[in-house]
Amino acid sequence: MSRSALITGITGQDGAYLAQFLLGKGYRVSGMLARRSSDTLWRLNELGIARDVTLIDGDLVDLTSILRALEASAANEVYNLAAQSFVATSWRQPLLTANVTGVGALNVLEAIRIHDRSIRFYQASTSEMFGLIQAERQDEGTPFYPRSPYGVAKLFAHWSTVNYRESFGMHASSGILFNHESPLRGIEFVTRKVTDGVARIKLGKASELRLGNIDARRDWGFAGDYVEAMWLMLQQERPDDYVIATGVTTTVREMCRIAFAHVGLEAERFVVVDPAFLRPAEVDVLQGNPVKARERLGWSARTPLDDLIVMMVDADMRRVGRE
Ligand code: NAP
Ligand code: GDD
Repeated sequence: MSRSALITGITGQDGAYLAQFLLGKGYRVSGMLARRSSDTLWRLNELGIARDVTLIDGDLVDLTSILRALEASAANEVYNLAAQSFVATSWRQPLLTANVTGVGALNVLEAIRIHDRSIRFYQASTSEMFGLIQAERQDEGTPFYPRSPYGVAKLFAHWSTVNYRESFGMHASSGILFNHESPLRGIEFVTRKVTDGVARIKLGKASELRLGNIDARRDWGFAGDYVEAMWLMLQQERPDDYVIATGVTTTVREMCRIAFAHVGLEAERFVVVDPAFLRPAEVDVLQGNPVKARERLGWSARTPLDDLIVMMVDADMRRVGRE
């Protein structure tokens, strides 16, 4: 019998890669499409899979629309990737972030509990929950200390997932994913902002790149590698929580150096630190310890940061060149 998956957030970076991955495994893939006035299918189009997935209208804050999507998709597996996912925006829209990113996940859990408890559930948790880190390298046992309305909302969603697993015996797993990027990354996130900026400067369409805290450190991996870990979690006999990371941490400054160097430029000549991009509270450093994922899921990150940034700069050179 063919398997069926429902992805909330299918139009996002991870949703697009996960849809492609699951189609490759022979799944019927449905995705929830929130009502937007502009084109949000560009990622599915870029991967050439927009026609291979079924899009179902729905919004994470509307429980009945999630129930309808479960019914229409006949999903055995649900991947909850939808969120207001940009940390900086979460201070400007804290209530929306709480509703979508936090309560939205609970809506999906409730819909599954009501509709069919045997459906397997994946929650997109995040290293942002570690925030003000309580251990040098963060693993599944590290205490959480979120630093943004986004991190707080994700923590609610994370504990809701654990609670539904423990309360109702649901196969609900939480992937605590560290930052992962790709050519399909939203332009507001720092890696893509940098690779797009590098392309514009190289092609003479911009003269500088304004950034915030370039001393922040992140554990960056490739989104295409990370979606496999989501799927692996739902194939386990028992649900659980897993840290997914590379284990390597790098500054924004160094990431910029790699990106500019790829096109023969020096980052220091073009990067301008602009206080407008500083955050009310910062997550200074993240570095994951993905040992559990390696040992239990057989998963490890395959793409080094240099290769990832080169892939993103090349994609943006093509895009900007076509403009
Ligand atoms: P993304 O590109 O921002 O995608 C977010 C998706 O959520 C989009 O499809 C968006 O739809 C959808 N969405 C937003 N509000 C919605 C609503 N009210 N109802 C239904 N859908 C809604 O995020 P991503 O990078 O793919 O990340 C996927 C998930 O993993 C997110 O939950 C994120 O918080 C989490 N996460 C990401 C990372 C990372 O480094 N990428 C790390 C850890 C956790 P539109 O396209 O219509 O806006
Ligand atoms: N976006 C952005 N823009 N970030 C900047 C800039 C800038 O101009 N300058 C410096 N930074 C710093 C941020 O302050 C932060 O410390 C770091 O670069 C990474 O910022 P983002 O790329 O916006 O990602 P994030 O770490 O805040 O959040 C992402 O990763 C989380 C996992 O840890 C998002 O994908 C979240 O949804 C995800 O949960």
